[in-house]
Amino acid sequence: MKSNKLAIIALLLWVLTIAVFAWFFIRGNTTAGTDGRTAVVLQVSERDLILSEMRGLLSATQGILKGVNQGDMQHVIKAASAAGMVVAADASPALMTKLPMELKSLGMSVHRDMDEIAKAADNNASAPEILQMLSNTLTKCVACHSIWQLKVAN
Ligand code: HEC
Repeated sequence: MKSNKLAIIALLLWVLTIAVFAWFFIRGNTTAGTDGRTAVVLQVSERDLILSEMRGLLSATQGILKGVNQGDMQHVIKAASAAGMVVAADASPALMTKLPMELKSLGMSVHRDMDEIAKAADNNASAPEILQMLSNTLTKCVACHSIWQLKVAN
């Protein structure tokens, strides 16, 4: 009987752990921001990682536009794939639990878009087609930036 009770307690603790983990995984570690947006609270190194990923996205955008403008699809492929899903693999499990679900899925979809742009350029897509894809992707950059900011934990 005693071991039965212990088993139930263990099971409840397990369920509780999963529930807490799921809660954070969906909601992330967030608080009110300084300018009406929601702030995601991170360690300095985690914030630095995300911001460097962001600068990578900006330079990919610049590289894609430059390539299209010069009719150099190899340049487009190189610029876009540098900001593809390979970059997203750097995030640690701890960081993943701090990021809200919506931010994670928007972020992933932008990296996926970059791979799609590289693939389209490789398949001889036209310049207007590449620009349309990039324009759709930039809509996601704008959407995410209007919702979240990053804050360093005290
Ligand atoms: C899933 C959300 C999300 C998406 C998508 C996103 N960003 Fe960001 N980005 C952020 C957040 C959050 C910050 C920090 C903003 C703040 O703290 O005010 C940021 C900051 C930046 C910065 C500043 C970097 C620095 O060093 O300070 C740049 C540049 C940037 N993003 C570019 C982009 C570009 C270009 C895209 C699209 C190709 C993009 N971002 C898509 C969330 C996102």
